[in-house]
Amino acid sequence: MSQTDDRAALIELHRGLERQGPGDAHFSSKILSNLTSLPPKPRIADLGCGAGAGALLLAKHYQREVLAVDSSSVFLEELTARAKQADLEHWITPIQADMGKLEWPVASIDLLWSEGAAYHLGFEQALKRWRPLLAPNGIAVVSELSWFTEDVPKDVPESAIAYWQNAYPTMGTEAENRARASRSDFTVLSTYRLPNRAWWLNYYEPLRHRMQQIEITPAIQFVIDETETEIELFERFSDFYGYTFYVLQVV
Ligand SMILES: C[S@@+](CC[C@H](N)C(=O)[O-])C[C@H]1O[C@@H](n2cnc3c(N)ncnc32)[C@H](O)[C@@H]1O
Repeated sequence: MSQTDDRAALIELHRGLERQGPGDAHFSSKILSNLTSLPPKPRIADLGCGAGAGALLLAKHYQREVLAVDSSSVFLEELTARAKQADLEHWITPIQADMGKLEWPVASIDLLWSEGAAYHLGFEQALKRWRPLLAPNGIAVVSELSWFTEDVPKDVPESAIAYWQNAYPTMGTEAENRARASRSDFTVLSTYRLPNRAWWLNYYEPLRHRMQQIEITPAIQFVIDETETEIELFERFSDFYGYTFYVLQVV
């Protein structure tokens, strides 16, 4: 299976879903309501926006333009349709681009949002690339798959470590990710762990439903098998890892 087949199958599997990764609108709204230091008319970007779960929420919350960046035209088309349906299209600017190579003016963003996407670049690499885009006092809210324990080899069952060492070798503990943020010239204002039920209700259950509807090809079957392994692992070991939302301010 080539990487291109794999990527196309992954996109196909997530087509039509509200979210392409774990998240929750109510949880995100709570984070936004605690961001009190933003300017009244913030310049906003959602990087790795997928079909726009975050971008649409940001547009609704702030009633401001959201630069919504993703490499997939499929997801951006879905975002555009959903923005129209929600009467938010005037606030959404879909941009098909590599979020690691944005040539935007320095200090041009006040709020950078990125959910479930930074790992494509690696958390630290993503923060280092995105840091110049942020204005003085700018805020980045970035979710990252994180270990919930400090001593991973001692505390975490071996099968969970083995799986994630292969799937995401640079996955860090929350303390490691805080250190990565500091090294990238950010202060960590707060962190929030996405509740377990959000994984199931908003992501894995719709994804399982989609698996039953989708036309099976060898590439799709491969991606389904991988996803099932990931889901089974989460069922057993979600006490040990999950998505942490890091609320960061530029130093
Ligand atoms: C797990 S999905 C999360 C999508 C969305 N933020 C959400 O929470 O529903 C990760 C997204 O990152 C996008 N992506 C991956 N690498 C990218 C890159 N280098 N530049 C832009 N988007 C990228 C994928 O197409 C996908 O939509």
